[in-house]
Amino acid sequence: MTYQRISLQPVSGSLGTEIHGVDLSATLDDETYAEIKQALLEYLVVFFRDQDITPAQQIAFGKRFGDLHVHPFIPALPGHDEIIRLFAETGEKDTLRLANSWHPDLSYTDNPPLAAILRGVQIPARGGDTMWVNLYKAYDTLSDRMKVILEDMVAVHDVTKTYRRTELQREGGADQYWKTFQKAPPTEQPLVKIHPETGKKLLYISELTTTHIVGLSPLESDALLNMLFKHIDWKELHCRFYWRKNSIAMWDNRCTAHYAVRDYTEPREMHRVTVLGDAFS
Ligand SMILES: [Fe+2]
Repeated sequence: MTYQRISLQPVSGSLGTEIHGVDLSATLDDETYAEIKQALLEYLVVFFRDQDITPAQQIAFGKRFGDLHVHPFIPALPGHDEIIRLFAETGEKDTLRLANSWHPDLSYTDNPPLAAILRGVQIPARGGDTMWVNLYKAYDTLSDRMKVILEDMVAVHDVTKTYRRTELQREGGADQYWKTFQKAPPTEQPLVKIHPETGKKLLYISELTTTHIVGLSPLESDALLNMLFKHIDWKELHCRFYWRKNSIAMWDNRCTAHYAVRDYTEPREMHRVTVLGDAFS
């Protein structure tokens, strides 16, 4: 694929590219839009720098790709229901549940979103990077025998997986757990998925929510999942993005998982919009 309207600067051997030559505050013409979409399918995650855009412009950009999601748990930016505001004083104080483990967003729902667009609003002087893993490559680099074993297997994804004893035992903890469980009951996802647009197979797994594999004993399931969690942590499958204020990352949530590195000691604020659907509009 050649690109006429945008220029690309790939960031790793596995996935991810910076895109230059686009102003996201302006309405995208159809050709530029088509090339960004193509870059996403080819590189899985794309990055833009120096996009000083308003929340309304971020929403408008997201809407070019499909309908936007309103998150069931994470608070929205006041006045903008489609933007979730991710803020933490420091990495240690980040209250988002274990974003520093590999996960596709909302894998615990029946229709996980298509894509997410994350903008850096306040960025620490150092730390707070985000990493992505190429789940096609995670599948491709398994042995042929393992691919046969995993074919047709189904895994359970449960958003309450990461609840800890201390949380359950504190005042109101069990109620909170029950409310979350009712709002988002566990769902099943194939371990090997086929991407609806590229037709390629990928390993669909989340350290954050995948609890077990249907039909295996606990011992078998834990052993297989731990191997797969270790497999997707293989550095050759990753890219890493160093944020600056007004940087934007947009990822295909169907074939990547991400990891928010929690090593920052200054405030960090990010705004995310999430695109729904099976395929880009
Ligand atoms: Fe996430």
